[in-house]
Amino acid sequence: MFDDVAPKYDVVNDVLSMGQTRRWRKVVVEAMEVSKGQRVLDLAAGTGTSSEPYADAGIDVIACDFSLGMLKVGKRRRPDIDFIAGDATNLPFADNTFDATTISFGLRNVNEPKKALQEMLRVTKPGGRLVIAEFSQPVVPLWRTMYTEYLMRALPAIAVKVASNPDAYVYLAESIRAWPDQDHLAAWLQDAGWDNVTYRNLTGGIVAVHRAFKPVTAENGAAAIAAHKGPVAKLRRNITR
Ligand SMILES: C[S@@+](CC[C@H](N)C(=O)[O-])C[C@H]1O[C@@H](n2cnc3c(N)ncnc32)[C@H](O)[C@@H]1O
Repeated sequence: MFDDVAPKYDVVNDVLSMGQTRRWRKVVVEAMEVSKGQRVLDLAAGTGTSSEPYADAGIDVIACDFSLGMLKVGKRRRPDIDFIAGDATNLPFADNTFDATTISFGLRNVNEPKKALQEMLRVTKPGGRLVIAEFSQPVVPLWRTMYTEYLMRALPAIAVKVASNPDAYVYLAESIRAWPDQDHLAAWLQDAGWDNVTYRNLTGGIVAVHRAFKPVTAENGAAAIAAHKGPVAKLRRNITR
């Protein structure tokens, strides 16, 4: 499905979200709080639009996705970004590789999202963070009703006019409705082993940005120090954050 939507993916996103995606993406980048010299995994990165802000800031970002169609469009647009084919439920990276991991509008599409949360924990360094942007539940009832109308009626109708595979946008609407709400997803994160889980609603809860940290334990802290090739002082800063 994502191979099919790849060529027009970003344009259709802008149309269907009425430009909101740009604001949502800014909030994700702020929540990541990463700086030059750090390594970021952008999982389910698609065409790399969610990876671009890190590359633009000189941060070492890996854009990983399992749709070769999306990756090809991404590589054509941004040859400077490292695109890697990989499955979120069986990531092709070693333990404790990334300072921060993020997934934007991707977790809902993964067949086994709980497994992906565990895999993201595995590849993130102790003390490192996870930021998830995903569609969620509007909190005010009237707003929720208006949004549901848009999702189930207007969105598929607009998609017929602008998208290359309109069925994918029927799936989009249905998958958003079936997705757990903010608190439920926060509980999944905790169950997967993530710590200090918080979230922030955007556009009244149409989107939620969850943030969490990988706990530092005596065991994983020592393993991370042993594996680390850079200055130990910098690593200490990361793991005590
Ligand atoms: C809606 S796109 C999001 C792309 C990008 N992160 C963005 O913000 O525009 C969802 C992506 O999830 C990817 N995806 C779904 N299941 C996956 C899996 N198991 N492993 C890796 N990528 C997956 C799809 O291929 C698709 O590119």
